[in-house]
Amino acid sequence: MKKIKIAPSILSADFSKMGQEIADITAAGADVIHLDVMDGSFVRNLSFGPKLIKECRPYSKAVFDAHLMIVNPWKYIPQFADAGADIITVHHEACGPMLKETLRMIKSLGVKCGAVINPNTDVKEIEHVIDDIDMLLLMSVYPGFGGQKFIPEVLTKIEQAAKLIEKTGKDIDLEIDGGINKENIKLVKDAGANVIVAGSTVFNEPDRAAIIKYLREV
Ligand code: DX5
Ligand code: ZN
Repeated sequence: MKKIKIAPSILSADFSKMGQEIADITAAGADVIHLDVMDGSFVRNLSFGPKLIKECRPYSKAVFDAHLMIVNPWKYIPQFADAGADIITVHHEACGPMLKETLRMIKSLGVKCGAVINPNTDVKEIEHVIDDIDMLLLMSVYPGFGGQKFIPEVLTKIEQAAKLIEKTGKDIDLEIDGGINKENIKLVKDAGANVIVAGSTVFNEPDRAAIIKYLREV
């Protein structure tokens, strides 16, 4: 069994005090801080860039997981590496034929790398990079906004991805992102996901330590 890691998405945090929010969520037990970077082109929303990440870095020793929802991610990868990201994930849909090279670029900067696919992209599409990645991220909502409803069809893809990872014999994390809550957490874990992103579910709960514990242990 792979270790379950809980990754609160700061998209649902209070942006006016982000450093404190990140410190708080780390103290509450978060293993990973999920950083949703949006450019208004790849997705219809804007969030934040490397400056915020760099300035929040001293507030936590948890893993900083930068999920880049941006076009031409290679243009900005060095800045995210410099900001202190421990892992950078890029979308297959944004990289196309450049995916392998982009992943290589991330690794060359001494940062872990991951590939992301949208709910309507087949797991087969990233098979060619499975040996190059530290993590595979499956979106269970269409990226762009927090607080959306989980797309249950993705459960089959989690199972397919888990099998693909198992075949490699490597220690590759399987992350699920979008609409995770108390009701579906068990389903995604049983399907094989081990890194669980949760934005609104964690930040809307007054007792963050309790919800993180629930998501981890249920
Ligand atoms: C969506 C983001 C997700 C999302 C998670 O574009 O990648 O990380 O904000 O938020 P919840 O858990 O509220 O769906
Ligand atoms: Zn995300």
